[in-house]
Amino acid sequence: MIKIGFLMKAVVYRKYGGPEVLEFTELPKPQPKENEILVKIIATTVTTADLRMRKADPFMVKFLMGFPNPKKQVLGTEFSGIVEAVGSGVTRFKVNDRVYGPVGFKPGTYLEYRCFSQDSPLSLIPENVSFEEAAAIPFGGMSSLYFLKKGNVGKGTRLLIYGASGCLGTAAIQLAVNMGADVTAVCSGKNEELVKSLGAKAVIDYTKDSLKFYPGVFDVVYDTIGKSPFDESIKALKKGGIYLRAVHMSPGVIFRGIRAGLTSGRKVIGGTASELPEYIDHLSELAAGGKYKAVIDKIYPLSEIREAHKYVDSGHKRGNVVIKI
Ligand SMILES: NC(=O)c1ccc[n+]([C@@H]2O[C@H](COP(=O)([O-])OP(=O)(O)OC[C@H]3O[C@@H](n4cnc5c(N)ncnc54)[C@H](OP(=O)(O)O)[C@@H]3O)[C@@H](O)[C@H]2O)c1
Repeated sequence: MIKIGFLMKAVVYRKYGGPEVLEFTELPKPQPKENEILVKIIATTVTTADLRMRKADPFMVKFLMGFPNPKKQVLGTEFSGIVEAVGSGVTRFKVNDRVYGPVGFKPGTYLEYRCFSQDSPLSLIPENVSFEEAAAIPFGGMSSLYFLKKGNVGKGTRLLIYGASGCLGTAAIQLAVNMGADVTAVCSGKNEELVKSLGAKAVIDYTKDSLKFYPGVFDVVYDTIGKSPFDESIKALKKGGIYLRAVHMSPGVIFRGIRAGLTSGRKVIGGTASELPEYIDHLSELAAGGKYKAVIDKIYPLSEIREAHKYVDSGHKRGNVVIKI
């Protein structure tokens, strides 16, 4: 039987659906094994990955989370917190360290405590970064770092970022500017000031303008939200250019990508971003040097997790939505 003192607050979901499937409960507080640290979670976020897992969209999410209802019942893909205890074999971290990181294919940060292997891609939070900011760094930062590297973005690259005001987009602008790229951001007029403040040199307002007016202009087009028109994006590239797509590609899009590669001399790259330890270290270094800051749209307490999910469901958040545990 579980003793009351060893329970922690958590949010679970027992069926796929809208924000209303999120329920408050109590779960046993975990204990760290030899190679693990126990983290008291201070902040987490609501990412588009949480929405996909909550809704089982696309359907193959069920292979990760469970059939016919979720077996893994806690959402949350990134976190920040304080190390509360360490296993006997832990050398990398100590009690009271401020840490943050992604959780990869093991979601579950909508709770008060979680154990992590000391070998996970975790990093110490730089002194100048708050818990709220740190929690919002890994998902957007690591995903966009992965794709920008795939696109060989570097000094002088003419880069178009589609969905520039979102989580991956706001991360991508800052990373690309640090890499020396010349960034054009696609967003709506209301986010023009934001993307320029992050370093975008030019802005295309998707509500008024179209990529068809920019033929052969860019070395790389990076679509962070899966809404860029395929043919116009290919045509907006110079010969030899690369079209990066962070969003799940349907068989039809994969086919068009292969055809574009064979007939137009432009390459289409998609897939799933890796969360490599060197990525989080790189982001920490940039954040410590004031060269990277997670954009935070809203902060909700855990008690308002359903409202937070509803807001992110709108598809119009700016940067990140943070949850304080
Ligand atoms: N492949 C991978 O490994 C990987 C990793 C991470 C994420 N992802 C995927 O990446 C996707 C994007 O994630 P995200 O978190 O960055 O999204 P997000 O933050 O929810 O994006 C919201 C932003 O998109 C903008 N937007 C909406 N419609 C637009 C349009 N037609 N044109 C341009 N901008 C538009 C909105 O601006 P307005 O309000 O102005 O419309 C808003 O600021 C998700 O589908 C996720 O599954 C993939």
